Amino acid sequence: MRRVAVVGGDGIGPEVIRSALLVLDSVGFAADMVPLDVGFARWRRTGTALAQEDLETMRRCNCILFGAITTPPDPAYRSVLLRIRKDLDLYANIRPFHSSRIDLVIVRENTEGLYSGIEEIGQEEARTVRVITRAGSRRIAAAACQLASRRRRLTIVHKSNVLKSDTLFLETCREEARAAGVSHDDMLVDAAAYNLVLRPERFDVMVTTNLFGDILSDEMAGVLGSLGLCSSANLGERHALFEPIHGSAPDIAGRGVANPVGAVRSAAMMLEWFGLSEESRLVEAAVQSCLAKGMVTPDLGGSCTTEQATACICQAISRGLP
Ligand code: IPM
Ligand code: MG
Repeated sequence: MRRVAVVGGDGIGPEVIRSALLVLDSVGFAADMVPLDVGFARWRRTGTALAQEDLETMRRCNCILFGAITTPPDPAYRSVLLRIRKDLDLYANIRPFHSSRIDLVIVRENTEGLYSGIEEIGQEEARTVRVITRAGSRRIAAAACQLASRRRRLTIVHKSNVLKSDTLFLETCREEARAAGVSHDDMLVDAAAYNLVLRPERFDVMVTTNLFGDILSDEMAGVLGSLGLCSSANLGERHALFEPIHGSAPDIAGRGVANPVGAVRSAAMMLEWFGLSEESRLVEAAVQSCLAKGMVTPDLGGSCTTEQATACICQAISRGLP
């Protein structure tokens, strides 16, 4: 039996994960769902956001379906999501962006770069070490090449005109792309940010380092119209975590208006990962049909509640769309 650890988390996390679970039910997805209470709310209650045994439970599951977790501005608090990514070595963060005009995937390195956690924080000076390794660059490039070989082209996004660490990233990605026979080019990250707004259709698969991928993916969500639409897969060799790219949005939590699409699409990515491609396609088709009908939440200018948007998707699935 498949086992999925389910982390609703904080803010709108539990609301959108509830939607994802309803949609998974409606495509007949069968798995042992293991709910885990981790995050900021638990930290406030018990002083622990994520215990070692939670990580053990996650490791015993096939994968994790994750909502969102609030990170408080407290220097003693370590981001739960970053700990899970690091601990389970989920090195490839795959973020697809799709609309009538756009079809691109950002492949973000997920364990090193400016997220190394190596910091010296003084009163007058603070440093964060940006770690780029050949091994880390090679494996993210390999993941991106695998994706690009089934599509059109790879663009390596970097800042090697300033950061010497990115010369290593760029060269390693180029080597990997050449070896894989993948057609590729490269672009400085500032130019990539500009072109993503002006000419997003120019891009297919983009591979980049951790922080650049973080920023460019929120930018792309903005180009599409809402963070609430976008999903991601955090993949390692043995484990995987699927999550919407939005945060816990405490300002709208509990009001029943969160956009469930990012979480539902994350569930679709999970179905694909389990090899359930038909089911995954059905979920995506149902999402697109509801978006086209204007059955959307306020972030997209609509007036649907989370429940109504979810019901629309589930009904489209039970009618066997498209
Ligand atoms: C994301 C988020 C995280 C990140 C935060 C919550 C640590 O912004 O998944 O994009 O920076 O990676
Ligand atoms: Mg982000």
